Amino acid sequence: MGNYQAEINKRRTFAIISHPDAGKTTLTEKFLLYGGAINLAGSVKGKATARHAVSDWMEIEKERGISVTSSVLQFEYDGFCVNILDTPGHQDFSEDTYRTLMAADAAVMVIDGSKGVEAQTRKLFKVCVMRHIPIFTFINKMDRDANDTFDLLDEIEKELGIATCPINWPIGSGKRFKGIYERDRECVVTFSDTEKGTKEGAESRISIREEEALTKLIGEDFLDQLEEEIALLDGASAEYDLEKINKGELTPVFFGSALTNFGVDIFLHHFLKMTTPPLARHADVGLIDPISREFSAFVFKIQANINKAHRDRIAFMRIASGKFEAGMEVKHVQGNRVMRLSQPQKIMASERKILDEAYAGDIIGVFDPGIFSIGDTICMPNDAILYEGIPTFAPEHFARVRQMDTMKRKQFIKGISQIAQEGAIQIFQEYNTGMEEIIVGVVGVLQFEVLKYRLENEYNVEIRMEKLPYEFIRWIENKDEIDLDKLVGTSDMRKIKDLKGNPLLLFINQWSIGMTLDRNKTLQLSEFGR
Ligand code: G4P
Repeated sequence: MGNYQAEINKRRTFAIISHPDAGKTTLTEKFLLYGGAINLAGSVKGKATARHAVSDWMEIEKERGISVTSSVLQFEYDGFCVNILDTPGHQDFSEDTYRTLMAADAAVMVIDGSKGVEAQTRKLFKVCVMRHIPIFTFINKMDRDANDTFDLLDEIEKELGIATCPINWPIGSGKRFKGIYERDRECVVTFSDTEKGTKEGAESRISIREEEALTKLIGEDFLDQLEEEIALLDGASAEYDLEKINKGELTPVFFGSALTNFGVDIFLHHFLKMTTPPLARHADVGLIDPISREFSAFVFKIQANINKAHRDRIAFMRIASGKFEAGMEVKHVQGNRVMRLSQPQKIMASERKILDEAYAGDIIGVFDPGIFSIGDTICMPNDAILYEGIPTFAPEHFARVRQMDTMKRKQFIKGISQIAQEGAIQIFQEYNTGMEEIIVGVVGVLQFEVLKYRLENEYNVEIRMEKLPYEFIRWIENKDEIDLDKLVGTSDMRKIKDLKGNPLLLFINQWSIGMTLDRNKTLQLSEFGR
C-alpha cells in the first residue's frame, strides 16, 4: 500500500497550451531533456530535430514497455513522475484540445514574450478557468526582444482576468538579455547562450547582495533597473498563495528561453513542487479519492484509424483512482459489461507495447472496438460509479450535410455517427424530422474538411456540404419545463435536436439569443451540453 500511495503521490499530470509558434514543442522537448528521457547533444534547432527527439524517446518507452503516443509523454524528474498532455498545436481549433484539458490537473501556458496574449491562448484559457485548472505561465523567447515585463503581466491580468505572481523576473531581453532574478532565493541567474543545447548551460547564480560581482556581470544600468523593479514588484504584485494557485485564481509566472534551455530547469523545479498530485474527481457518488478507491478511469479522447488497415480506434483514458494492472478485469459502466483492457493483440498494435501497470494520474490508451464514447467510466467489476461526463463544447460553425449517392445512405449514417462518437464533430437533426437532414457542428472549420476526407476515404461516401449562417448553439437547460413547439424566438432562430433527442437552438448572433430569452422568461440556455 505504501509503495502504491507513493506512486500516485509522485505523479504530476499537466497539459501544455499555447498559441502556435510560442514554443510549446521546444519547451516540451526541453522538459524531456531535463527528465533524462532523451539525450540531446549540442544545439537543438527547430521542429525537425524536435520530432526526431520525441521519437527517440518513444523508442526508449517501447523498451520499457509503457505505451505512449505523441500526445502523452511521461518522464521522471526530481522524484516526480511527470505526464505531459500535448494539445494539438494547429491554428484551427478542435474539441480535442478542450477534452485534453479535462484530463489534466494543471496547465502550463506558454506565451511568446514579444507577442503577449494571443487568440488561441485566450480560448484555451477560458476552458481552464471554467474547470478551475491551475495555470502556470512560462513567458518564452526572452532571448528575443520582448515586451515590457510589467506590460506583459498587465496584459495577462486584464485579458485573461487572472492575477499574476512572478516567481522570477527577467533582466533585459533580446541581445541584451542578461538572465533572471529568482525572487525566492534573491539570486540572479545569468544567461549565456554559448552552450546552447546542453543541459547544464553556462548559468551562474549570484546573490543580489553581491553588488560588485553583479555590476561586472550585468552592468550598472541593469542592476539599478532590476533593484527598482524588484522594489516595485514587491509592493505591487500579488503575493504568492498556493491555495489561490490551486484554485486557478493566481498564475505563477516564469521567464526563460526554451530554445537556449534557459529557465527551463528552474521552471520545472518550482512548478512540480507547486502543482498537485492527481486530484479527486467528481462522480455521481461524490468525489473519488485517487488513493483510497480502487482502479477507475474515464475516457477523454478517442483517436480513429491509428492503423489504417484495421480501421481501429484507440480510447484514451485518464486513470482517476487506484492502480491499473495489465490483464485485470474491469467494468465499462456505460456498456454495462465486464472486460479486460489488455488483450495483447488489442493494444496499440506493433507501434506500442502493452503497459504492465499504471496509476492514478496516468493516461492509458486501449484498443477500442467501437464501444467507448467520450466521457465513459471504467471501474472495478464490483464497483459502481459514474464520472461526471465531459461537457460538449458549443460548435461555432454549422453545415447541412447530404450524401451524393442515395444508395449509400447506410454507410453515410454509419460513418458520420462513428466520427461523431469520436468527438471530432457533433451531429444534429431538424427538430421535427428524422435523420434525413443532418446538421454538423464543429468547433474549428478544419473539421469540415476532415469529415469530408474521412467519409470519402474510410467509408467511401461522397458528400455535399452546405454551410449554414449560424454561429451560436444553446442547449436548453430546463428542457422538461419548456414546450418547444410554443417557444417563440427570433425569425432566424432554428430548433434542432441532438442524437439523444435533446432540444437545442441555433442562432446567428448574440442579439437573437438575448431576444429569445426576453420573449421566453422561463427559458434557461447553456453553452455546454452534457
Ligand atoms: P509551437 O510548438 O508552440 O508551435 O512552437 P515551437 O516550439 O515549434 O517554436 C516555434 C518557433 O519558435 C521555432 O522556430 C522555435 O525554434 C522558436 N523558438 C522556440 N522557443 C524559442 C526561444 O526561446 N527563443 C527563440 N529565439 N526562438 C524560440 P521556427 O523558426 O519556426 O522553426 P525552425 O525553423 O527553428 O525549425
